[in-house]
Amino acid sequence: MKKIIAANWKMNPSSRSEAVRLAKASDEKGVIIFPPFVFLSAISKIIKKADLGAQDVFWENPPDGGAFTGEISANMIKRSGGSWVIIGHSERRRYLEESDEIINKKIKASLASGLKVILCIGESLTVKKEGTDFAKNFIKSQLKKNLLGLENFNLKDSNLVIAYEPIWAIGTGKPDDPADAADMAGFIKSYLSANIPALKPVVLYGGSVTSSNTARIFEHKEIDGALVGGASLKTGEFKKIIRIAS
Ligand code: PGA
Repeated sequence: MKKIIAANWKMNPSSRSEAVRLAKASDEKGVIIFPPFVFLSAISKIIKKADLGAQDVFWENPPDGGAFTGEISANMIKRSGGSWVIIGHSERRRYLEESDEIINKKIKASLASGLKVILCIGESLTVKKEGTDFAKNFIKSQLKKNLLGLENFNLKDSNLVIAYEPIWAIGTGKPDDPADAADMAGFIKSYLSANIPALKPVVLYGGSVTSSNTARIFEHKEIDGALVGGASLKTGEFKKIIRIAS
């Protein structure tokens, strides 16, 4: 399988023209662009090869909208040209205090609407320091809580993808050791195969991915792609990552 490259732009860039420029430069097959909500429509009109998604979604999705100030529904994302959504990013878990229960509700609403989901999971440095078995148990418990009740939930092929993002590796310039990340990706895949057999397990790695470490990360067959933050905002750098992936 060709590797998937998801570009998580976070709260960037600062203008619509810059967002359009960045999207044009990133418009390649196998890439999924995740801009802020406000740029979704503009980008959906200009991309030809890449897929598009949102960085978050609300857990209610009434067909005609609803009284949920500030929130964006799965239907709205689809109507703005998005086919994917990122759920459970560690920055939202931390700054917005998103709980596992909220994340579980968002996954259900998204899959029911037909959006494809990238669920982010990953351990903190404190957990990592307790050792590999401890970290795996933590990851297992995140999967269990976030995917609760999803066994028979419209899951097919790979409409639910897991991004393994160790929190200590995000935005720090200190990526996980590729072999360790691959070991965790393999662990996540075994969990998925055992618990959601209808799903084709797909696991991305995220956390300080750059053009200089992509090749080493992608050597491992357990890792199906990358969720790229900072490096996805630099066009030259991102193009190199795409080239290595293909
Ligand atoms: P980073 O971010 O590539 O800047 O570390 C990854 C992410 O948060 O998804």
